[in-house]
Formats: sequence, structure tokens, C-alpha cells
Amino acid sequence: MSELFLDEPSVLKVNLLGHPVLRKRAEPVTLEELKDPRFKLFIESMVETMREYNGAGLAAPQVGVSRQVAVIEAQENPRFPGKDNIPLTVLINPEITAFSPDVEEGWEGCLSVRELWGRVKRATGITLKALSMDGKEITVKAEGFQAVVFQHEIDHLYGKLFIDRMEGFETLSFTQEYRRYWQED
Ligand code: NI
Repeated sequence: MSELFLDEPSVLKVNLLGHPVLRKRAEPVTLEELKDPRFKLFIESMVETMREYNGAGLAAPQVGVSRQVAVIEAQENPRFPGKDNIPLTVLINPEITAFSPDVEEGWEGCLSVRELWGRVKRATGITLKALSMDGKEITVKAEGFQAVVFQHEIDHLYGKLFIDRMEGFETLSFTQEYRRYWQED
């Protein structure tokens, strides 16, 4: 994490659509980086940043670190009313190994595509492998909202944004109108 030297967990700047780091494929985290105490501080800072802006997830490139790391959490999140809670999850070098054949279309937003929402089709279930904080390989299965958020965050690690997954821009909506006309639940 040579890009970041933090003394304590901090709220980080979130890069917006147009920043080149959002379009780069992120590098895997090395085992040495995993052991670096600054890495833990960086993860804590990602969690703080996600909570500060009511994100359901945050990927490292969004805060300018081109590494394969994402944090995910949803607890009665006001940006996603009525959605299932997701326990705090840290994904390091995640790789989706299986997608369910079923897809469902739903609304997505992104802290890097601020104020815009659009409808995206995603697999309703996925299986992924990733590394835990102590460097062990873990397998995670996810369904529903959790599967959608995982797919959205892992896309960030490949330089992809939800708008790239939209089949057309007819549903693209500013937050104000999205909340007024389209938000479900
Ligand atoms: Ni996003």
C-alpha cells in the first residue's frame, strides 16, 4: 500500500467518473502487503469511507488504490431502504467462480457515479473465492442483494462501472427523480 501512509483510520477521497484509476484493472494484493500493518489501516479506512457516504460497498480503486480489495456492508442503509442487511465483508483478490443461470434487473448507484441510478441485470447468485485477512483462501456464496453488491464491487476491480452494464440509458435517473418515481420498497 505504498500509495497510502495513514496514521489512523480516515475517511478517504472518493474518485468520481472520469478519474482514470476507475478504468484500470487493479493489481492483486501480495502476501507481503497483506502482512503490512498499513494494509489493515487501509481496510479500516475503506470501511470508514463506505459508512461515511452510506455506500453498500467500496472498492480500492475508488479511493485511488489500484489493488484488488473491496469492502461490503449494509445495515439499515438509507440509500438502500428495504434491502437485506449484509454483514461486513472484506474481499481480497476475489474471483467469481460461478454465476447462477438466473438474472434479475435492479437499480444500482455508485459513490463514484454520484447522483445517478440505473437498471442493471445481474446474476441472482454467485460463488467466489478470495483471500481472508490472514491470507487463507475462502469460498463465499451470495444471493440476492448481497450477490448484486459483490458483482458491482468486483466489477470495479476490473475497471468496470454499473453504467457499462446497462442495456440502454433510458432508466438513467438523478437521485431526486429516482427517489420520487422509481425507488421500490
Ligand atoms: Ni460502485
